[in-house]
Amino acid sequence: MQICKTISETRAAIAQARQAGQTIGFVPTMGALHQGHFSLVSQSCAQCDFTVVSIFVNPTQFGPNEDLNAYPRTFDADCQGCQKLGADLIFAPSAAEMYPKPNLTWINVEKLTEHLCGTSRPTHFRGVCTVVAKLLNIVQPDRAYFGQKDAQQLAVIQRMVADLNFPTTIVPCATVREEDGLAMSSRNAYLSHEQRRLAPVLYQTLQNAAELIKQGNTNATDIIAAMTEKITTQTPGQIDYISIVDKELLHPVATIEAPVLIALAVRIGKARLIDNIVVDPS
Ligand code: PAF
Repeated sequence: MQICKTISETRAAIAQARQAGQTIGFVPTMGALHQGHFSLVSQSCAQCDFTVVSIFVNPTQFGPNEDLNAYPRTFDADCQGCQKLGADLIFAPSAAEMYPKPNLTWINVEKLTEHLCGTSRPTHFRGVCTVVAKLLNIVQPDRAYFGQKDAQQLAVIQRMVADLNFPTTIVPCATVREEDGLAMSSRNAYLSHEQRRLAPVLYQTLQNAAELIKQGNTNATDIIAAMTEKITTQTPGQIDYISIVDKELLHPVATIEAPVLIALAVRIGKARLIDNIVVDPS
């Protein structure tokens, strides 16, 4: 497995693989890899001849008071994990390599970024879209793999790739959970022992909401109230949002009549945890 720090060596290695007739799979990450990321790498290795994993903590997707500096960095372990699974190339650029000049060109996906994480992180998705567009231009993969835990990110990237005609298939991958249901996240590392013990309540809350909908409750306000009650009474978490949105534009719905995304973001200690499920009322 090759480790490349520059765009030019990365492009040269990928060009060789292409010339040899290989298909290219791509897993973009910010490092601190866990089983969720590794499941994306495994899928890429199973479906593509040459797998590229990028490790880059992208400064443009963090807001001024967010955890850019504290974000966990475990580069050696990340590389070992990827190598074991059969990845072919790690692209690990510096910030100066990715942004040699102050960035003046941004990609904004409208509508889909108005709610959920877009409300409390107003510049987050333009940073994500811009870096993902740059990475797709550098790697030019046949397929790129994204986790459904970041459901809004996945929807936004799918729309960007469709709107801008990137020749890459976006492959959505299922959320990987700990045994107690907590969605795997690099930010789980911020949780204390006690916070970690209580964090699975978030997924239980999503499951309870699904159950209420299956029992025939279609009123989004009632379901959000039940979810709020459970999280505030059973965890020390501060709710950033709990939303029930349509699957097309991710806008809140009042009545649940078609498949919806139920999503939440909760701060527990230093960790801002997100999770979601899709529920079909039929
Ligand atoms: O999901 C992430 O880790 C990041 O948002 C991504 C897609 C690698 C862009 O920096």
